Amino acid sequence: MNTKFSDLSSNSIETTNGKTDFFYEDVIHGLQANPKRLDSKYFYDAAGDKLFREIMNCPEYYLTNAELEIFSEKTAELVAAINSHGAGFDLIELGAGDAMKSTYLLNELLKQQIDFRYVPIDISANVIKNLNHNLPQVLPKLKITGLNGEYFEMLAQATSLSNKRKVVLFLGSNIGNMPIHEATEFCKNLRNHLSEGDYVLVGMDLKKNPKTILSAYNDRGGITKRFNLNLLERINNELNADFLISQFDHYATYDPESGACKSYLISLEDQTVQIGEKQVHFAKNEHIFMEISQKFSFGQIEELARNSGFKLMNQLFDSKKWFTDVIWSAG
Ligand code: AVI
Repeated sequence: MNTKFSDLSSNSIETTNGKTDFFYEDVIHGLQANPKRLDSKYFYDAAGDKLFREIMNCPEYYLTNAELEIFSEKTAELVAAINSHGAGFDLIELGAGDAMKSTYLLNELLKQQIDFRYVPIDISANVIKNLNHNLPQVLPKLKITGLNGEYFEMLAQATSLSNKRKVVLFLGSNIGNMPIHEATEFCKNLRNHLSEGDYVLVGMDLKKNPKTILSAYNDRGGITKRFNLNLLERINNELNADFLISQFDHYATYDPESGACKSYLISLEDQTVQIGEKQVHFAKNEHIFMEISQKFSFGQIEELARNSGFKLMNQLFDSKKWFTDVIWSAG
């Protein structure tokens, strides 16, 4: 999602899809809180997107390959799981990105001559333009209706496209970037947009050796560190701030009990930063909470489904059982 700094006095910026984004307000509010925090949804400017692509190629960041293995090697099983009713459906993907993993699924659905329409949803207009243009060139028989905008607004539109059953994809462990109570609210909201018998397919990262998890968020090449620090650069560029990037360090933790992997930036000096018209003081060694990447136990997944009105139908794993794609039915 690209944003442009337009008008600090209104404390808001306009996104490419014309929505108002409260970047400045959120930043000030988060940095005036105790403990300080920034919202990881702001990681993804153009530089952040690029760094995230680099993270996905880091040897330590196993998540992408694990889910890709499920989509590329267990495609027929995925199709059988989502097509258990046999009738046609609309396949909606939240945050479709480049649809790299879902393309395996689309290809198999077409091969099996299953009646479906692909409805990718993304906050980036560019992503949707590219998918609408590129996918039919690779998959000529594909019916596609890309929707650009906020997930739930677009989901409401997507569900009114036809009266066919809905199957919603939410991949990549994006659900892990919400604390569990928020993830529950998100899933409840998802359930409320669906009808009984509709399916969701959610990608979730599983609890595993804590060292494996910690290394994924503390890679030796320092890409995750740059990814976190990039948000300070973005604040400098877009909100007229003067963070000295070298005076902050990245620190990641993983708690094997709760499954919460958390990233922080640590202030290396006692310092005051100007952000627009406000000043924010950082004590030496003070932390800013940046992101949660929740890792799930089977019990936590079951609880999340139950608390949000879904029933577990099926569950696929990569060969190491590090990652799972769960298929839930709206109950
Ligand atoms: C997008 N999301 C699922 C990533 C994750 O693993 O939590 C974001 C990320 N943050 C640091 N590395 C990757």
